[in-house]
Amino acid sequence: MKSNGVALISGGSRGLGLAMVTSLLEHGYRVATFSRRPGEAIERLKEKHGERFSFFEGDMSDQASLGSVVKRVEKDCGPIDVLINNAGIATDGVLATMQPGQIEQVIAVNLTGTLLLTRLVVRQMVVRSRGSIINISSIIGLRGYAGLAAYSATKAGLDGMTRGLARELGPRNIRVNSIAPGYLETEMTHGLGDTQRNQIVRRTPLGRLGTPDDVVGAVHFLLSPAAGFITGQVLTIDGGITC
Ligand SMILES: NC(=O)c1ccc[n+]([C@@H]2O[C@H](COP(=O)([O-])OP(=O)(O)OC[C@H]3O[C@@H](n4cnc5c(N)ncnc54)[C@H](OP(=O)(O)O)[C@@H]3O)[C@@H](O)[C@H]2O)c1
Repeated sequence: MKSNGVALISGGSRGLGLAMVTSLLEHGYRVATFSRRPGEAIERLKEKHGERFSFFEGDMSDQASLGSVVKRVEKDCGPIDVLINNAGIATDGVLATMQPGQIEQVIAVNLTGTLLLTRLVVRQMVVRSRGSIINISSIIGLRGYAGLAAYSATKAGLDGMTRGLARELGPRNIRVNSIAPGYLETEMTHGLGDTQRNQIVRRTPLGRLGTPDDVVGAVHFLLSPAAGFITGQVLTIDGGITC
């Protein structure tokens, strides 16, 4: 299969990250991903795709760990053409009663870690004048949600990063965009109670929660030449709940 280039996706062990890893492999990318623990799906992908797929253990909240992941990806797979900043946690709780450590952790993983990882990856992209970056933000960063203020702040921060980096890297032929999904059926939303879930479905014009596959098509579009003049944008994929 002709290679489409090397893609690094953070947090590919399950959920949306796993769906993107799987689909990019099927579309001819050499894919590397990392998270704190490999899941069963990772073993299956290794068996199926051999050297076209790499998994590393790495932690978004640990700067040294991010450094060693990027070094290993560049050494084993070659220079990175595509970076998808997907790893994230959603710590819910009313801000007034959250522990400072919980606030620091959600910022460290979702925002600081993403900036540090991107800083390392763009160095080679700038040298090669080539690359595409997608930040997975959230409609919660655009509209807010009671009990998710810290998470919301990190996701709004990612959209700000998208706009700033798009300006910084556009002259180097590197595009940077955000995808802001609505509520998706993944482990992250398993904690939603029936009342919350029914309310979301009622308020969504398309009448359901999304799936990771609902987002994957937009990823391919943003990475394709068809999106060659699109940068600094936030693409919302939410069944219409924010319209
Ligand atoms: N689900 C939704 O409704 C929804 C909606 C909008 C946006 N999003 C965003 O979409 C992205 C993916 O969410 P998801 O629903 O697929 O979540 P998920 O099922 O909980 O998966 C999260 C992924 O991130 C990894 N991760 C978490 N903390 C990490 C850390 N410290 N270091 C490295 N990897 C870490 C996890 O692996 P390990 O636990 O093994 O580290 C896992 O692979 C997130 O950024 C999320 O905010 C989700």
